[in-house]
This record gives sequence, structure tokens and C-alpha cells, in this order.
Amino acid sequence: MLRREWPTLAIVAGGGLVAALAPSAAPFVLAGTVLALGAWLLVRHEDAPPRPAAGLPVSAGPDSAPRISARDLAAAVPYPLVIFEETSAIAYANDAAQEAFGPLQDGMSLLLKFRAPEMQELIGALTAGQVADGAVEYGERFPVESAYRVTGGAIGAGNRLFFLLFKDQSETRRIDRMRSDFIANASHELRTPLASISGFLETLRGPARNDPAARERFLSIMQEQTARMSRLIDDLLSLSRLEMRSHARPAGTVDLRQLLESVADTLAPLSGDLGVVVERDFPEDALLVQGDRDELFQVFANLLENACKYGQSGGRVVVSMSKAGEPPEACVTVRDFGPGIAEEHIPRLTERFYRINAESSRAQKGTGLGLAIVKHILTRHHGRLAIRSTVGEGAAFSVWLPLK
Ligand SMILES: Nc1ncnc2c1ncn2[C@@H]1O[C@H](COP(=O)(O)OP(=O)(O)OP(=O)(O)O)[C@@H](O)[C@H]1O
Ligand SMILES: [Mg+2]
Repeated sequence: MLRREWPTLAIVAGGGLVAALAPSAAPFVLAGTVLALGAWLLVRHEDAPPRPAAGLPVSAGPDSAPRISARDLAAAVPYPLVIFEETSAIAYANDAAQEAFGPLQDGMSLLLKFRAPEMQELIGALTAGQVADGAVEYGERFPVESAYRVTGGAIGAGNRLFFLLFKDQSETRRIDRMRSDFIANASHELRTPLASISGFLETLRGPARNDPAARERFLSIMQEQTARMSRLIDDLLSLSRLEMRSHARPAGTVDLRQLLESVADTLAPLSGDLGVVVERDFPEDALLVQGDRDELFQVFANLLENACKYGQSGGRVVVSMSKAGEPPEACVTVRDFGPGIAEEHIPRLTERFYRINAESSRAQKGTGLGLAIVKHILTRHHGRLAIRSTVGEGAAFSVWLPLK
């Protein structure tokens, strides 16, 4: 029979318990603990005659605590939470549960609703009075793919009410997937040059042992491949350093004009080799921004290098700088007149290892990490990157930075 009479819960010193849990404890644990402990302190109004709280420490008993109903408490929990009876009939499902698994009417059987064997086992164990053994992983495919960690427990002793609490794991799964993709990509990028070096070593020890011309050629390829591996490792280390410092805004002052001049000068040999003319369109006044000179150098060097490498066919690149927007910000645009970038690639360009054409990027000695590094550096500088392109007409990469 469905119990309609809701027990009253008393929580020691209001939020005292909540505050005592370290922030690292997942809210899930927190909500479950509050609920379970609240239930443990379950008192009925008539069973708990008021006693004077004077002289007692706040945590000494439930008397000084506010009383709230289990339904109110469950309704306030921001994660899907279902309260059910010994028969597995739902007694209450909060809004988050309705949204995730609904409709869940009172009286509906949880065993019929959650048919996955692990859920059946968990519900069965709880209603049989066993202590739930850790959390259960539960996934749904429809309407959207989702993954939850489910824990449950009894509410109080002898109430024959139980709860299930679901913690959404989709974000954690997404991050895990990203991490393993990243490791797979990084390993693949390192394995390719390594395989080539080991192949050449074998040839040098075997068939090419007495061929000085071949030896020279192979050694120079091996040198290129080791340079590529070391570039990749430098970029990976650079990314990981930036990630560790992502919230600390650099304190220095950078004169953007001076910086851009020196970037263009440094890349002059490359643009010259590629036959690209780099035009500078800078205002008279200096534009000062707050930042780390080396990191901002890396940003503009990558944008200019990309413009020269991938926009080579346009024959020219324009680097312009201006003060724009409200409030005014510094805006630096690197524009090329090459093949441009199709719309579907634009949002993905700052992903690690994302390349429109991996072969052409590798041929240009690219690691595919440049724009990921740019994005991290700009985030740290409270700046942003905007990419515009028309296929066939070229691409424009604009960096916005707050003025000093
Ligand atoms: N100006 C551009 N025109 C066309 N495609 C571009 C342009 N800039 C970047 N891209 C594309 O974006 C991809 C990612 O650029 P990113 O700078 O992150 O890597 P990369 O240049 O390949 O390697 P790295 O910068 O590490 O040397 C490039 O491989 C290229 O496909
Ligand atoms: Mg690049």
C-alpha cells in the first residue's frame, strides 16, 4: 500500500552537514548523505516533544533543527531522485527524475520501469533490506544517450521507504572520451616518424650499408623526423603548461605593434621561401595590452605561419591592427587570399590535432596543435579568436584582446 503520510526529517543544524562535506565530495554524495542522515534523524511531530535546546551543542540532537518533509527535501535535490516502497512502487519522483525518465507516476513499479539487470538487482537488494553494495552504472539510449551512476538506500529504519539517486555521468564520459582520443592522436603522431626512423635504420644496417649517397639521404630524412617529434613534444608540453595556468591572467604589458613587427620579421624567411608578401597595416598609435609577450608571440606567429602555409596560393597576407568595439579592444587580423576554409571546419579548427588535410599539414611540418595553443593562450588573456572565411577567397583570423 502506498504510504501517503510523509515523515518529517530533521537535519542537524540546517546546512551544518552540507558545509562539513568537502567541496570535492560530489554533490551526489552530499545529496544522498543529507537524505540518508535526514532520514536517520526521522522524528514524528508527536514522538518528539520539544526539549529546551539551551546548553546543548547544536549538533547534539534533532530538536534544534528545522523540520522539513521528505518530499520537500527530495524535491529540492537537483539530481533525479525516486522514493519507492518495498513493493518497488514509486512513492515520489522529483522533477529531475521526471525530466530524465518520466513520466513516473506514483504507484508505478520501478522494477518495470528500470529493466536493466543491474537496476533490478539494486532495487531487489534494497527492498530485501540489504545494504546496497556501491553504485550501479545505468545507461539510457533514448531520447538521448545518457549514463548515470545510481546509488540507493533505505530512508530511516522501519519506514519501508527507499530511495534511488542518479548522477549524470555524460560529461565525465565525454571528458574520458576526449582524453583517450587525445592520447590516441598523440601516440599516432609520434608513432609515424618513429616508424620511419626505425625503417631507415634497418635499411642503413642492411641493403644500404655500403651506399654513401643513400646513407646521406636517409640520415637527413631521419633528422627531419626527429625534429618533427621534438616539435610535437614541445607543443604538447606547451599545451599542458597552459592548461595548468589557464586561470592566471598574465600581468605584463605588451606593445602589440612592436610584437607584430617582430613576428613578421621572424617569419620573413618562411614567407619569402613560400613566395608570400606580408603587408602590415598598423595605426600610428601604440596599442598596449596586458599579457605575456612570449605567449602572444606564439599566437601571432602561428596565425601568420598558417596564413603563409595554407594561403600560399593567394601570394599575399595582410596583418592589420586596430582599436575597435565598445568598450574598445585591440583587434589584430591576419588575412590571407588562399583557398579559404569550408564552413563546417571552422568551429573545429581549435580542437587538438584537427587538420583539414592532415597530409598537407604534415607536409608543412604542422602538428595540428597550433590553433589549440592559440585558443588556450587567448583564454588566459581574456581574449578571443574569430575566424571568417569564404571558400575560394581566403581566410581571416581575428584576435581580440582587452586594452591595458
Ligand atoms: N589560413 C588558413 N587557411 C586554410 N586553412 C587553415 C588556415 N589556418 C589553419 N588552417 C587549417 O587549420 C588546421 C589547424 O591549424 P593549426 O595551426 O592548429 O595546425 P597546423 O598548422 O597544422 O600545425 P602547427 O600549427 O602545429 O604547425 C591546419 O592544418 C589547416 O588545415
Ligand atoms: Mg599552425
